[in-house]
Amino acid sequence: MTTYIGLIGGGNITETHARVARAIPGVEIAAVFGMNAQKISRLCCECGATPYADFEKFLAHSPMDLVAIGSPSGLHAEQGIAAARRGLHVLTEKPIDITVDRADALIAEASKAGVKLGVFFQDRCKPDILGVKNAVDSGALGRPILADARVKWYRPPDYYAKSRWRGTWALDGGGALINQAVHTLDLMLHIFGEVKSVQAMCTTALHAIEAEDTLIALLEFNNGALGVLQATTSVFPGYPRRLELSGSEGTIVVEQDRLLAANLKNPGADLLVASEADNNPSSSSPVVSDVRGHQAVLEDFLKCIQTNSSPRCDGKEGRRSLALVQAIYAACRKGERIEISS
Ligand SMILES: NC(=O)c1ccc[n+]([C@@H]2O[C@H](COP(=O)([O-])OP(=O)(O)OC[C@H]3O[C@@H](n4cnc5c(N)ncnc54)[C@H](O)[C@@H]3O)[C@@H](O)[C@H]2O)c1
Repeated sequence: MTTYIGLIGGGNITETHARVARAIPGVEIAAVFGMNAQKISRLCCECGATPYADFEKFLAHSPMDLVAIGSPSGLHAEQGIAAARRGLHVLTEKPIDITVDRADALIAEASKAGVKLGVFFQDRCKPDILGVKNAVDSGALGRPILADARVKWYRPPDYYAKSRWRGTWALDGGGALINQAVHTLDLMLHIFGEVKSVQAMCTTALHAIEAEDTLIALLEFNNGALGVLQATTSVFPGYPRRLELSGSEGTIVVEQDRLLAANLKNPGADLLVASEADNNPSSSSPVVSDVRGHQAVLEDFLKCIQTNSSPRCDGKEGRRSLALVQAIYAACRKGERIEISS
């Protein structure tokens, strides 16, 4: 049975969505919607899809079973809600949107319409991350003590100049935190659990953008562990992102989603995953050329549609990092510690 997908956006990440859709047997790209007519028509020629510049006409395209949203982040909920109302399943890029209120509206609408809602947090699907999550869940790290995350990336001025929505409050919802570091924040929550309070500082150090390009945050987890996050797009030439998780039984170090070290008092076999490194140049470029993570998310989503189950990262899961992002920005604005209500 063929599943028909519609792509929304037509920019950088839609290229990735098109590549993974074409790589999965039984999936056809039915239609593409976006503002850049030339790019949309090239993409449609490559994959035999119908181009649309009118969103309502795009949504009415038939056959179409689901949409993959790759538009500016501040449009995800609005477009997802419109798609859900048409009975289309919705798989959106991260972040789920730029405000929790809008994320909640999307989650409610998908539920009301009886369609699946998923978020592309592809790092959750990477083999080493799955191994680390299992090991921490099974107690290999002991009592969680410290999570140290570094997302010290670089984006050249062109990155912001060529896509004017990036780094704006209205469409990106912020800067380096919500756009780049949100992946790592999602992993911290996924592996270490909920955060109950945050303190943070940010600055716009290098780029001509409205929002921050450099931010540091201190986190207090519900389980008593502390966390520190550095998020930036201003550190030349950009370094692989790194997550160090320490507990009473040892430390696990993940770099670029690859297990670098598992220094545990009682090493188990759980963590020995023979995976290949992620080849994406994320520390210096937004292009997702190694599409295995995105492909795993789409495959998981298709399986959920077929079996009527829940995606690995559904709307509620996707909302968690956004709620934390909002609390961190509030802490920056107020210059004080923010308690997060669950
Ligand atoms: N999961 C990942 O690793 C990853 C990587 C990059 C980007 N993203 C996400 O993908 C989204 C898009 O980022 P990008 O890098 O592709 O940006 P981009 O600027 O390259 O592409 C965005 C596209 O949206 C189009 N657009 C503008 N207004 C629109 C509208 N009203 N409706 C539909 N399309 C519209 C623009 O013409 C542009 O082609 C963002 O939410 C970003 O956070 C995720």
